[in-house]
Amino acid sequence: MTLEEKLGQMSQTPFPSAMSDKFKEELRKGRWGSFLNGGTLQQKAEAQRIALKESRLGIPILYGQDVIHGFDTIFPIPLGSAATWDADLVRQAARVAAREASAAGIHWTFSPMMDIARDPRWGRIAECLGEDPYLAGVLAAAMIRGYQGDKLDAVDSIAACAKHYVGYGAAEGGRDYNTTWIPENLLREVYLKPFEAARRAGVATYMSAFNSLNGVPTSANEFTLKQVLRNEWGFDGFVVSDYESVRELIPHGFAADEADAARRAIRAGVDMEMVSTTYFRHAKSLLDAQQIDMKQLDDAARNILRVKYRLGLFDGRVQPTAPRPATPPAEFLDIARRLARESLVLLKNTNSALPLNKSVGKVAVIGPLANSVVDQLGTWTLGGNRSAVRTPLTAIREQLGEQRVKWSPGLRNSRDTSHEGFADAVKAASASDTVLLFLGEEQSLSGEASSRAYLNLPGGQEELVAEIAKTGKPLIVVIMAGRPLTFHDVAEKAAAVLYAWHPGTMGGPAIADVLFGAEAPSGRLPVTFPRTVGQVPIYYNHMSTGRPASETGPGAANKFTSKYLDAGFTPEYPFGYGLSYTSFSYSTPKLSAATIALGASIKVSAEVTNTGKYPATEIVQLYTRQLSASTTRPVRELRDFRRLLLKPGEKQAVEFTLNAAGLAFFNPQGKWAAEPGTIHVWISPDSASGQPAVFELTR
Ligand code: GLC
Repeated sequence: MTLEEKLGQMSQTPFPSAMSDKFKEELRKGRWGSFLNGGTLQQKAEAQRIALKESRLGIPILYGQDVIHGFDTIFPIPLGSAATWDADLVRQAARVAAREASAAGIHWTFSPMMDIARDPRWGRIAECLGEDPYLAGVLAAAMIRGYQGDKLDAVDSIAACAKHYVGYGAAEGGRDYNTTWIPENLLREVYLKPFEAARRAGVATYMSAFNSLNGVPTSANEFTLKQVLRNEWGFDGFVVSDYESVRELIPHGFAADEADAARRAIRAGVDMEMVSTTYFRHAKSLLDAQQIDMKQLDDAARNILRVKYRLGLFDGRVQPTAPRPATPPAEFLDIARRLARESLVLLKNTNSALPLNKSVGKVAVIGPLANSVVDQLGTWTLGGNRSAVRTPLTAIREQLGEQRVKWSPGLRNSRDTSHEGFADAVKAASASDTVLLFLGEEQSLSGEASSRAYLNLPGGQEELVAEIAKTGKPLIVVIMAGRPLTFHDVAEKAAAVLYAWHPGTMGGPAIADVLFGAEAPSGRLPVTFPRTVGQVPIYYNHMSTGRPASETGPGAANKFTSKYLDAGFTPEYPFGYGLSYTSFSYSTPKLSAATIALGASIKVSAEVTNTGKYPATEIVQLYTRQLSASTTRPVRELRDFRRLLLKPGEKQAVEFTLNAAGLAFFNPQGKWAAEPGTIHVWISPDSASGQPAVFELTR
């Protein structure tokens, strides 16, 4: 390969809007190894033909796209999918996305995003798989298996991309693209964990991120890109930068100019440059000045070609030209409906206000998010078959008939502060027996570059609720949002609160299924919900501090402890929390031994009983805590979980095997090791409840 041909492979740009002669000439010269997010079926097929037949080496083009939570069929936003704790269904959804995207000529998705996020002000929390490294790792691996299938070179498999490597979610202040400071033990124990799980799942590519990490931008960070990813994990695919993140090394105050940016990113191991073109324009002068060497370029090009080979692109994988179906097949929509249903988290249900009986009388459906196609799809839906979307209003009308449903948006959108629509909404509520209030945030307030300093319901929603509450009708609140919001006063006024995230194409039928009891809600929070934004960051796997607050402590003694005078120290809703239409009881965990040696394992079991009158799924969670060690340990850490479907009265024993090695952490000597000590272990419905069993870990 010539230098230009190698640099061509290392360069990715958006597919142009037209196939100009200049563009075709560039293809013949091998100027671009990959395109992102664009091109019709025909354009991609023609460009591929030129690359294969009219360029000197005939190297196939790699087409990438942001298929973040579905392509034609849109699934819940990843944060919503994370609330399902259902790895296999998440895998099935990713498989659907791969089948639809590959049929549209796409070979590679920039997904799964697995940044750990502990700050709901950050708009991209919508795209992530929550605050816990274990849950995020399990779900990210499931998505990778779904995208890449059993054989990466199968015609309906696409390469996955573990992003944004690494630490992007720790942006100071939750402000997107902001600085991150993450000490190595936290980096390894929390932020790197899902990316390591992705490596074990065989992810084909990684994407470096926008953020600087401890002063070194992640798109030029030799420690994470070489020491960890290549040397420790043995990754042999390729790394793509994020959008212009190589050129952005300059505004970071890291690179002096574009040549310096190219030099530092190439040396660090960013194989492919997305959109900025510093590699192509400066590599030759850097070579001549011996600031980079040809081996670095060879390694980068080879990593890229290796993935193209693994995808079967050199073995005649044909660019499809058949038009996409007018509407997704029922099989795909059914998976979307099931995933959306399982993503719903019941946060409050006073006196079993839910499920609604079909003979509920007249229902008022109020709020702009009850009937907004774009908003229920959520952020990052570049494709999305709009005609297949069914809104909650549509689905509720299907359940009850048009006559019994009075619809009044009340507001034009979630940001609307006007009270013009209030009278009509109050009238609809007054003329009904039950009010279904759809609140939350629009899609445009969520995702990239959408950090918010306030977490309450935007616009005039809180005033609208106050007016509707005056009617005295029972309020059922459904919140659609791309992040945890704060809505304590609204929840106080509601009989029930169901959190629906942005639920995707089949969000309407899924919400109606749960509201009317076709299925009990089983979602559990993948992130902590703060009482107020002032508590942020607040997350379950925190350290104890030397003065842990406790609700039970006597008043005076409780003063000098770690809490807020005006917001306490506990969240509104904890990680792992979610109600059902039934109730479950847990026995105290039993242990197979009271003491185990460092290399051994222990069995932990408990009996879970459905003590209510609905069949329902419970997400049984296993947590541990080490009381003392060479570094402080979190007050709880999720180690495993199990989905249990139990009929009314049914009891099931759940048994987990806990390996002492699984209790290892990154110690002050820079080694992963478990240490002797007292271990508490919970089998519980969430991260804040249950009584622990205790065992000793000994040398
Ligand atoms: C964006 C995002 C990244 C996405 C890429 C391509 O800025 O940070 O997640 O995959 O650019 O669209």
